[in-house]
Amino acid sequence: MSESLSGQREISVPRHIAIIMDGNGRWAEAQGKPRVVGHRAGVRSVREVVRLCRESGVDALTLFAFSSENWRRPEREVALLMRLFITVLRREVKMLQKNNVRLKVIGDITMFEPKLQQRIQEAEARTADCTGLALNVAANYGGRWDIAQACRQAARKVQRGDCSVAAIDEAMLQGLMSLSELPEVDLLIRTGGEQRISNFLLWQCAYSELFFSDVLWPDFGDDAFAEAIEAFSSRQRRFGQTGAQVSQTG
Ligand code: IPE
Ligand code: IPE
Ligand code: MG
Repeated sequence: MSESLSGQREISVPRHIAIIMDGNGRWAEAQGKPRVVGHRAGVRSVREVVRLCRESGVDALTLFAFSSENWRRPEREVALLMRLFITVLRREVKMLQKNNVRLKVIGDITMFEPKLQQRIQEAEARTADCTGLALNVAANYGGRWDIAQACRQAARKVQRGDCSVAAIDEAMLQGLMSLSELPEVDLLIRTGGEQRISNFLLWQCAYSELFFSDVLWPDFGDDAFAEAIEAFSSRQRRFGQTGAQVSQTG
C-alpha cells in the first residue's frame, strides 16, 4: 500500500517500485552507435533511479536487467551484457554499501558463468547488513520461472510430509515466490514505449499500478520518475472494492 507523506491528500509514494528498463538498444541505434553503448548508458539511469528512490523514501526497488528470454539475442550482445554486469557489480558495490542499499539478485543465476555468479554472491554478502533501500535486480528472471520454482518448493514440502496438498494455498505460494519478504509491488514502470509485461513479475504484479513511459531507459531521470510518481499518486487503488467504499475508509 502507498503511504501519504503528510497524511493529507498530497503526493503518495509507492513502497515498492518495479521497473522494466527498456529502450537501451533503440537509444544507441538512434545515434548510429552499437546497442551496447545504450546498455552502458542505462547503468547511469540505474544509479539515478536508486538515488531518487532513496531520496523519496521508497522501501524497495526491483529492476528487470535480463529476462529468461534475452538469451535469444545475438551471442555477442549477450556476452557484452554479461561482461557489463560483472564490471558494474564490482564497481558499484562500494557505493551501495555507503548508501546503505541492500542488493539481492532474483532469477536463475545458475545459468550464468561462475565468475558472474561469484560477483553476485560477493555483492549480496557485502550489502547484506544494509538496512536502507532494498534493491533487487532480476537477472535471468522470468515470471513463469518464479511460479514454477515456488510450485517445486511446495511439492517438496508435500513429498517430505511437511504439509498436505490441501495446504498449498495462495498464502503458501506467496511465501515461496521471489520478493515475498518485501511489501507488494505498488507501481510497475516500463520505459521504452512498449506496453507489455514481457514475463516480468507475473504473480507479484497482480494488483500493481502500471505506468508506461515513452522515455528510453538511458534518458530516464528526475522528470520521468516524478511523472510516474505523480501518476501513481492520482490513482485510486480499489482492490476489488467500489470507489465509494475506498473513499470512506480513506
Ligand atoms: C533493455 O533494452 C535492456 C535489456 C533487455 C538487457 P533493450 O536492449 O531491449 O532496448 P531496445 O528495446 O532494443 O531498444
Ligand atoms: C524486457 O525487455 C526485459 C528487460 C528489460 C530486461 P525486452 O526488450 O527483452 O522485451 P521484449 O522482448 O521487447 O518484450
Ligand atoms: Mg527491448
